[in-house]
Amino acid sequence: MIPYGRQNISAEDIAAVTAVLQSDCLTQGPQVPLFEQHICAVTSAKFAVAANSATSMLHLACLALGVTKGDYVWTSPITFVASANCALYCGANIDFVDVDRYTGNMCPKALESKLKQAKAQNRLPKVLIPVHMAGHSCDMQAIWLLAKSYGVRVIEDASHGIGGSYQNRKIGTCQYSDITIFSFHPVKIITTAEGGVATTNDAVLAESMQLLRSHGITKTPQIMLRPDEGDWYYEQHALGFNYRMTELQAALGNSQINRLVSFVEQRNKLVATYVAELAKLNVTCVIPLDNSYSAYHLMIVLLPGHVDRKAIFEAMRAADICVHVHYFPVHLQPYYLNKGFAEHDFPEAEYFYQHCLTLPLFPDLTEQEQGYILDTLKGLL
Ligand SMILES: Cc1ncc(COP(=O)(O)O)c(C=O)c1O
Repeated sequence: MIPYGRQNISAEDIAAVTAVLQSDCLTQGPQVPLFEQHICAVTSAKFAVAANSATSMLHLACLALGVTKGDYVWTSPITFVASANCALYCGANIDFVDVDRYTGNMCPKALESKLKQAKAQNRLPKVLIPVHMAGHSCDMQAIWLLAKSYGVRVIEDASHGIGGSYQNRKIGTCQYSDITIFSFHPVKIITTAEGGVATTNDAVLAESMQLLRSHGITKTPQIMLRPDEGDWYYEQHALGFNYRMTELQAALGNSQINRLVSFVEQRNKLVATYVAELAKLNVTCVIPLDNSYSAYHLMIVLLPGHVDRKAIFEAMRAADICVHVHYFPVHLQPYYLNKGFAEHDFPEAEYFYQHCLTLPLFPDLTEQEQGYILDTLKGLL
């Protein structure tokens, strides 16, 4: 079966992880801070805070921005459930902003009218979480200007997006957000097996996320609240978690990040072939905005309305091609239906979901495999 995404693990990656395994330090050693430095270097952000997953970092980012009981957080319905769940972990309420039907990204027009309405009802969100679907940046300048004018903080869920850029600036630079989150799950652009990171230019937010990822505990002498009792002494300043990234994960990340640029270039090269070949068919490729360069986590096409997506999906799978569907809208998940969301609440998201199909895309996808995928899809359509 050709998977829809797959990690690339080199001999250098294996050596880097093995070296840590043979060292004294499996956790809380030099690899995690080094990985954070690498993330700052590739994004141009001032601070990076690594954790055991993007889900953990979304939670900590919400907490650092003060999200608490009674607050509202808005995200996109076309995303993985983690983008919404993070608000609920903080006791807040979640709501969604509809997307553009051709990109699956949060629609600035829909956001503007929802903010206007929310202001009139005194229910403005504290935090907005736009999601860079497939790695394609949302229209962040428009979203940021709206958020600013209504006093709303912004977390970019760029789980799909490391290595991409918007307006010639790297995603993660936080030009138009308070915090950006990346995921390093194996199907993503680079991997740490499980892992995530937050970038920010705000020292206070970075410190808060650092504290919360490790039980709310600090050993930094400058911020101790009581007299230091000795080398064993640490202080708990907040109710935190154990969301730490291990040295093994960070070592893998430190090795993988050397190939970030080549991974993204290879993905874009494969996409160019997909786009050229699919232009001959009646399908719409989901592509980034003109002013963006996408890391292309996913190659998504929108099938025409008359095509039976389920039949195509099953036939592709029967041909050993692991196509996928990203995503079933979050507001239609049974858990969220129980919170009062309903079908037709976000019609553009539902349109996107009904038509989308994810084709295999990963750096090691061969020309022959891609040819086979395209031929099979052409034959079926
Ligand atoms: C958009 C989005 N946000 C958040 C996450 C959560 O990432 P992680 O698996 O690193 O917790 C994912 C993972 O697939 C995702 O796709």
